[in-house]
Amino acid sequence: MRAGLLDWYDEEGRTLPWRIRPEDRRAGKTADPYAVWLSEIMLQQTTVPHGTPYWHKFLEAFPTVIDLANAERETVLNMWAGLGYYARARNLHKCAQIIRDDYDGAFPKTEAALLKLPGIGPYTAATIAAICFDQATNIVDGNVERVISRIFKIEEPLPEARQPLRLLAGTLADPRRAGDYGQAVMDLGATICTPRSPNCPDCPWDNYCLAKANGHPEAYPKKSVK
Ligand code: ADE
Repeated sequence: MRAGLLDWYDEEGRTLPWRIRPEDRRAGKTADPYAVWLSEIMLQQTTVPHGTPYWHKFLEAFPTVIDLANAERETVLNMWAGLGYYARARNLHKCAQIIRDDYDGAFPKTEAALLKLPGIGPYTAATIAAICFDQATNIVDGNVERVISRIFKIEEPLPEARQPLRLLAGTLADPRRAGDYGQAVMDLGATICTPRSPNCPDCPWDNYCLAKANGHPEAYPKKSVK
């Protein structure tokens, strides 16, 4: 399953400006943690098409994390307008200042150290550690939850199923290409295994998917009725 997904990602994965393509990574290129962190914070509550122009605007105004740390808070908040959730922008600025003051301008490399920074939760810590520092973390966001709940046809509803889903996601994840693997499942969820009308014929996991075999992948994940 891993090989099938990673082959699909190598061919069909989205080209995103902060992403190192697998062939470039094999050639030794590494992702810039500042650029990846910025994209992950921005994309927490918005889509790639909406968030991408902001990412370009921020990198242009603040090419490095030190530039962002040195900016006035008002400037950062004004540039964030349109992305919503201003607490994220305040944490972004605070985090940049901690990286400048306590880490000499370089992001820490482990999931545990990243988790201590303002605005960086389990998903973001796992994602930065895997994409930028090749750590074998378990990347789970809403897309990953949906894909995994369909593959295994999980009848337990969310949010109760969250912990078992994380464990299942972790057993499938590829520790040798954790960053590519996590991004591959997220791309699969964003482009093929979509909430309402999954495009199963184009899915690299078509043959493994229990929900699809049952005829109703869109019925998963089940949600608790309140
Ligand atoms: N959504 C948010 N971050 C992502 C990433 N790194 N890859 C794919 N989808 C994402």
